[in-house]
Amino acid sequence: MDVRSQIIGCGSYLPDRIVTNAELAEQLDTSDEWITSRSGIRQRHIAADGELTSDLAFRASERALADAGMAATDVDLIILGTTTPDNTFPATATKVQAMLGIGDAVAFDVQAVCTGFVYGLSVADNFIKARQAETALVIGAETFTRILDWEDRGTCVLFGDGAGAVVLRAGEADADGKAPGILSTRLHSDGRYNDVLYVDGGPSSTKTSGFVRMAGKEVFRHAVANMAAVVEEILGERGLTIDDIDWLIPHQANKRILDGTARKLNLPAERVVVTVEHHANTSAASIPLALDEAVRDGRIQSGQLVMLDGMGGGLTWGAGLVRW
Ligand code: UT7
Repeated sequence: MDVRSQIIGCGSYLPDRIVTNAELAEQLDTSDEWITSRSGIRQRHIAADGELTSDLAFRASERALADAGMAATDVDLIILGTTTPDNTFPATATKVQAMLGIGDAVAFDVQAVCTGFVYGLSVADNFIKARQAETALVIGAETFTRILDWEDRGTCVLFGDGAGAVVLRAGEADADGKAPGILSTRLHSDGRYNDVLYVDGGPSSTKTSGFVRMAGKEVFRHAVANMAAVVEEILGERGLTIDDIDWLIPHQANKRILDGTARKLNLPAERVVVTVEHHANTSAASIPLALDEAVRDGRIQSGQLVMLDGMGGGLTWGAGLVRW
């Protein structure tokens, strides 16, 4: 029997504190009008003092496990996509493991910035298909606002904190892709573009964690091209067209990037899940946050084809096609 990784539960968590564009405009030379028109973002959630990435990840994981009806102790693989770990080491995934009371398992972080969740999903899928894991928790969690330079209006207005998680379990595959689960994933990176989106610090360079630096227009251009290209790559591989896709769940960076990607793919805007307006760019957390919202409000239905599509610093990008 061939194995397919089924998504059997999802969950998400946003910190309580909401900061609107108008509040940012009180401390910064910006405006609600500029932020909304350039990015579609209206507000972001910001973690409380002492609330860490592991806390956000834990809350989202608890909800995903409850949704799956699984005990945490059944999990044998935990992969956490994050670029804002609690500490340089140990992996934040191992902290989440301890918080969930999971004993022996495999737990590690993946660092692919905003593509972290898609990277984690692909790695977990491969573990399951190689029968090295049966049940996996894949999380995207960030306290991204901690690495923002609050004096750089070109970046600080665009990001927020949050977490999302899914539970994967080994299920049965079929030949025609009708059985639920992850049908394909494709990952890419191109390190020649390290310098268009990066953090200007780190343990080996400055011994501080540093702040986000971004060449916005260049990132924008690559984001639309790469996010569309990797979706087309999976469609080609599966012999599908864009008309077969029920929902595109892109990384929630900027409404204009999502619109541009949908236009390039000839995908009607009604089939794109957009949540960026209420949580801003939460990096690795944005795709599972959007996925959870669309599952919870009933948009995503059993049997549908859902395409997850991410892009971030590295540059990294990737997509995953899921039969729901
Ligand atoms: O996960 C991927 C993460 N990255 C992204 O999502 C970012 C991708 N890039 C973008 O979304 C866009 O490039 C931005 C939203 C960052 C910027 O939009 P833009 O249309 O490319 O604007 P711009 O950078 O060309 O800036 C236009 C003007 C500039 O003023 P001048 O030089 O024309 O006088 C900026 O200084 O807007 C100014 N500006 C602002 N004004 C008010 C930049 N940030 C702000 C701000 N409020 N927050």
